[in-house]
Amino acid sequence: MTPIIFISLLAASNLFLLLKYIRYRHRFKQKGLFSMWPIRRVKLDQLDQIFHTNKFGPTFDTEIYFIGRGNLNVTGGTSDTEAWILSVLAKKSKRIFEFGTCTGKTAYLFAKNSPPDAQVITLTLAPDQLKEYSKNAHDSDKSTEDALHESAFTDFLYTNTPESRKITQLFGDSKHYDEKHLKDKVDLVFVDGSHAYSYILNDSEKAFEMIAPNGLILWHDYRGPQDTKDVFKALNKILKTKNLQHIEGTSLVAYRAPNE
Ligand SMILES: C[S@@+](CC[C@H](N)C(=O)[O-])C[C@H]1O[C@@H](n2cnc3c(N)ncnc32)[C@H](O)[C@@H]1O
Repeated sequence: MTPIIFISLLAASNLFLLLKYIRYRHRFKQKGLFSMWPIRRVKLDQLDQIFHTNKFGPTFDTEIYFIGRGNLNVTGGTSDTEAWILSVLAKKSKRIFEFGTCTGKTAYLFAKNSPPDAQVITLTLAPDQLKEYSKNAHDSDKSTEDALHESAFTDFLYTNTPESRKITQLFGDSKHYDEKHLKDKVDLVFVDGSHAYSYILNDSEKAFEMIAPNGLILWHDYRGPQDTKDVFKALNKILKTKNLQHIEGTSLVAYRAPNE
């Protein structure tokens, strides 16, 4: 083998190893293996006693009405595990507030699984309201594009179903939403509107106002420093003043309000 061929082969194999290293570093970082994700992970039975188990696993307390997604594409949707968790928690919630309706699948599951006299309020941006959206200098372009792209619905999965009588549909930008009349009155808040940094902070502030004693706030899409990085940054900031928990095996983060 000539020295030129030897050096070329050495350079090629080094390049190959470097590319492999970069690829795995990205993957490890995303999974939180290099830098720890700041929000502590918990199992479901640490989140709420409804998820307690017996020798068979979760009990009939967690039985629900369900529409899965399997491996099908659903705009802005939750995973099947997340949808199950949200539906189970709805069983014990009299008033539920959702930031971000999208297809209305979660709103439907909330209505279907909650007690008969429950109210589900869901707020979303309609396609003719995009001018109301206000991007801030800290918001990534990607999160803004996604928020506007997903603001495409004016009718929903629950439309024309019996469950719609439990659902109050609101349209508008969440930065303009006045939550004062709901102060301390909501048992379950799901923060899943715009995933831009300034919106996560805005919607969270409103969620903390609305949440009833012992109520739960859940955020969607805590996926690490690469994917949905604005959600990651905003929730890590909120962690400095609130006790947040990351539900293991999901992208959900939870906050339990004190039981006054
Ligand atoms: C990720 S999707 C919500 C998915 C839904 N929660 C579910 O589980 O099926 C995000 C939703 O937030 C809405 N949205 C985006 N920006 C908003 C804003 N500034 N104010 C209110 N809603 C907003 C979008 O219209 C979209 O419907």
